[in-house]
Amino acid sequence: MKDGLLPPSHGSELELGDEFLDLADAGPAPAQKSARPLRTDVYVSTDRHTKELSAISTRPTAAAHSGEVAEPGDFVTVEVAGIPLIVTRGQDNNVHAMHNICAHRGATVETRDAGSERVLSCPFHGWSYHLDGELRAVSDASAFSSTPCTREGLTPVHCEERHGIIWVTADHAAAPIKVGDWLGDKLDNLLTSLKLESMVLHAATIIDVNANWKLLTDGFLELYHFKYLHRNTVASYLAANMSRPLRFGEHLGNAIPKEGLLKDLADESREEWRVYDGTVIPVVLLPGTVINWDAGHLEVFSLRPNPKHPGQTLVRLWLAVPAEHADQTDLWNRTFASVLEVINEDFAAAEHVQRNIEVGVTEELLIGANEELLIEHMASVDQLVANHGG
Ligand code: FES
Ligand SMILES: [Fe+2]
Repeated sequence: MKDGLLPPSHGSELELGDEFLDLADAGPAPAQKSARPLRTDVYVSTDRHTKELSAISTRPTAAAHSGEVAEPGDFVTVEVAGIPLIVTRGQDNNVHAMHNICAHRGATVETRDAGSERVLSCPFHGWSYHLDGELRAVSDASAFSSTPCTREGLTPVHCEERHGIIWVTADHAAAPIKVGDWLGDKLDNLLTSLKLESMVLHAATIIDVNANWKLLTDGFLELYHFKYLHRNTVASYLAANMSRPLRFGEHLGNAIPKEGLLKDLADESREEWRVYDGTVIPVVLLPGTVINWDAGHLEVFSLRPNPKHPGQTLVRLWLAVPAEHADQTDLWNRTFASVLEVINEDFAAAEHVQRNIEVGVTEELLIGANEELLIEHMASVDQLVANHGG
C-alpha cells in the first residue's frame, strides 16, 4: 500500500475509489501487530514539555489564516511555543512576523488580538515600529543618542504564506525551513491541488483545552473512537471504522470515505467517480498543526501548548471554504457549529485522559493495532525532541 495520497486526477480518483471499495469488502483487517504500551510521562512531565516547546519553536506552526491579515496594515497577535508574536501584512503586501516584545524595555507592543494600523506603537513609552518590525521612531530620542544602541527593532522570525495559511517559526535563531520542504513534495502538491490557497476564511475561534497537545492530535489519527465517542455526530456520515492511513514523511493522517461516497462508488460508472469530493482527509503536521480537508472545505487547528503547563493547550481553529461558495453563509455556519460539536467531544475526552494521567497511577496506555498512527506520531515527536538535543 502506498503511504501518501496523490493529487486529485482521473487516475488517482479511480485508485483511491478502488482502495475504499477493497477496504469495505475486506472489513476490519486482522491485527498484524500486538497491542503496545504508550508511556504517560510525556503528557505530564514539565521537563519533557520544555524540550518539546523548544523543538516546536524551530518548526513551522500555523499562526494565522491569510484572510485574517488580508489587507496591508492588518495584524494579529499570537503565542507560539510560548513566544509572543505579531503577524502583519506590510504595505508591500508581504507578511511579516516578529516578537511582540518592545526593543526598549520589553513591553508588549500590541496588546490587541487583531486590528489594522499603519505603524505599531508601544504603549509604554511610545517607541514605534514599521509593519515589518523595523524601528521607526524613538520618543525623546536625545535620551538615547549618546549611548551606543544596537537595538534595531522588533526581532523578526521566519514567516511564510503558503496554502492560505501564515506559517511562523517562533525561534528567531532557528534555521529557516521552507514550508514546502517541511511538508514534502507529495503533501505540498496535494494541498496545492486541493486549492487551499484560494479558500476564503469563514470563521475562527479559540478553544482552551485542559489537555496536553499530543492528546489532541490523537483524535485525528485513529477512527476507533468514532462510533462510540461520536455516535451522535460524525459517526453517522462517515464509513464505519474505515480509513486509508496516510504517511507523508513525519506528517500522518487518514483518508476517510463518507458513507454516501461508498454508495456512489457502487452505483455510478467509474467515469463518474468523484472520490475526493466524498473524502475527509485529516493530516497531523509535525508539530502542532492539524489540517482537516472535509470534502471541499478546510478546518485548520493550530495547537498552542501553554508554556507553563503540559496539561493545557490553546487551540486556534479556522474554517476556510471555497471562494465560489463563500456566500452560502447558512451552510457554513451550520458546518462550523457541527465542527465545534465534534471537536468538543474529542477535547472533552482528552481532558478526562489528561486528568486521569495527572492522578499518577497510570504509567502506560494501551494502543491497539488499529491505533498504530498514535505510536508513529509519538515516535516522530520523540525524534524531533532528540534531534533538538533533548
Ligand atoms: S518598553 Fe516599549 S517604548 Fe518603552
Ligand atoms: Fe474524534
